[in-house]
Amino acid sequence: MNFHRPILAIESSCDETAIAIIRPPSELLVNLIASQSQLHACFGGVVPEVASRNHLLTIDPLFHRALAEAKLRPSDLGAVVATAGPGLAPALLVGASYAKGVALGLGIPYLAVNHLEGHLLSPFFLKTEIPKHLSLLVSGGHTQLTKVNRAGDYQLLGRTHDDAAGEAFDKVAKLLGLPYPGGVEIDRLAQSGNPKRYSFPRALMEKGNLNFSFSGLKTSVRYFLEQREMIPDSSELADLAASFQQAVIEVLVEKTRRAAQMEGLSCIGVSGGVAANSALRNSLIALCRECQWEIHFPQPELIGDNAAMIAFAGMHRLIAGEQSSVTSEIVPQWQIYSHC
Ligand code: KG4
Ligand code: ZN
Repeated sequence: MNFHRPILAIESSCDETAIAIIRPPSELLVNLIASQSQLHACFGGVVPEVASRNHLLTIDPLFHRALAEAKLRPSDLGAVVATAGPGLAPALLVGASYAKGVALGLGIPYLAVNHLEGHLLSPFFLKTEIPKHLSLLVSGGHTQLTKVNRAGDYQLLGRTHDDAAGEAFDKVAKLLGLPYPGGVEIDRLAQSGNPKRYSFPRALMEKGNLNFSFSGLKTSVRYFLEQREMIPDSSELADLAASFQQAVIEVLVEKTRRAAQMEGLSCIGVSGGVAANSALRNSLIALCRECQWEIHFPQPELIGDNAAMIAFAGMHRLIAGEQSSVTSEIVPQWQIYSHC
């Protein structure tokens, strides 16, 4: 299929309502994100029904704003794509249903896009070639190492058995009394802390293991805090944040090294919200310098959940001739691998 007309993308898998429009092959016309994170902060985490209701309020005005900013009429659009999974079912339903409605109303193709594929391709956003590489995807819901042969050809090498890295950041931040979302707070606090002061466990480090487990680490921070009589002062808090963060980073970096060596890959792509973590970025950059590997991160505005990455992943599949039925369902547990 030859695609030149603009592609509209909708993302609503969690607490961001996002709409982007790209003109294939390589022009981003608009990338809008309406975050609800303040709304969920008082609950200490995302409440699916609250997210869903707010997507519903936001999506239509955001659609009209996106068209206005891109200086397009609805009839200029060539296709509509939307995140259909994985994610929170009530939240996914809003974006995917809206997208199907637009596609049906305009008589243009609709395509269901996998959120993880959006993240995974985001370090190569709008590049003409997706190189063969190792992908480290570290988000609030997922932590996985994937061998990417080309767009659409993915082989899972390792993933978390329990909590995702971002989830561990958020849960430990909560234990430390930091506001939601906690990942960025730990990152900030850790910058003034001593990462060697406290020793927390690094799980599944035996030779050849490419999987992750972060729930024991989180529990270990909880026990540490429970055994103490006093609430940590600000310097202890910074040392705790830095020591916890160091434990997560060491595991992520070591498994990335192993996977790349085992698979003979010399190009690394890092994606998902935790890719914003400054210490993780520095450690991965140091690893790649040492091994003379290439490393790619997404642009800052494409690190957290956004619709531009969904548009890009969707574009690859539309060009390959894929299309979804407007009667297709959302898939809250959708995986992208042929061998799981
Ligand atoms: O990719 P993302 O925006 O949403 C999901 O698909 O899950 O990732 C969100 C996760 C949250 O857990 C958040 O705390 C974490 O990414 N995060 C960070 C940082 N910025 C966001 N974790 C550590 N350091 C950061 N600077
Ligand atoms: Zn995400």
